[in-house]
Amino acid sequence: MNFSDIPVIAIDGPSASGKGTVAQRVARKLGFHYLDSGALYRLVALSAMRSKLDLADEGMLSDVAIRLDVVFEDAEIRLGNENVADAIRTERCSNAASRIAAYPQVRKALLARQRAFRCLPGLVADGRDMGSIVFPDAVLKIFLTASAQTRAQRRYKQLMEKGIDANISTLFQDIQERDARDSNRSAAPLHQDAGASLLNTTELDIGQAVDSVLNQYAEVCTKGHL
Ligand code: DC
Repeated sequence: MNFSDIPVIAIDGPSASGKGTVAQRVARKLGFHYLDSGALYRLVALSAMRSKLDLADEGMLSDVAIRLDVVFEDAEIRLGNENVADAIRTERCSNAASRIAAYPQVRKALLARQRAFRCLPGLVADGRDMGSIVFPDAVLKIFLTASAQTRAQRRYKQLMEKGIDANISTLFQDIQERDARDSNRSAAPLHQDAGASLLNTTELDIGQAVDSVLNQYAEVCTKGHL
């Protein structure tokens, strides 16, 4: 079997759009593997901050990306021996990840690591450049988004549920700044790929968004693409 015969569903979109939750549920329903590519950028950011590295030093950051000692297992993301699943989700880490994700050398250093997730029976990958750069031959490409206001409200609710204090207008501002940085960078900017179908979840709940992706995948399969 060819590597390219392993089906990939690419789900790209902006911060806090809910693409991670949707992608995980789609993967579970199909029995596919799941790649949270944003977690890799967050892990590089966390490692760099902990080592007090200069976040402007592209070469040093790409070394961190190459050496990343990480294991994804169920809900755990282990960096060395520590589960950092929560530590990589802080706003500080989100902002640092968005900064370092602009560096071409860091992106290149993470490419092979992301492609290694492509295993039978298939993969659901979420990020910004899954359909355009990492898996350009994905059988289904989705651009999942929601208004910035809705995304800020969802992030606020998530943080509150975890007992983390947050301010909705700061979150809204952070999301807008991150969108601008992710969309305007020259290396793999966030945009809807020509072959991607738009899924706007502003008026949808998670279940409806998951069903939409599963229906589109079923359609691809029946059209004989698989
Ligand atoms: O999806 P996320 O919010 O966890 O991603 C964290 C940061 O990493 C985000 O600012 C954009 C960046 N990222 C990226 O540039 N390319 C990806 N494939 C995934 C994430």
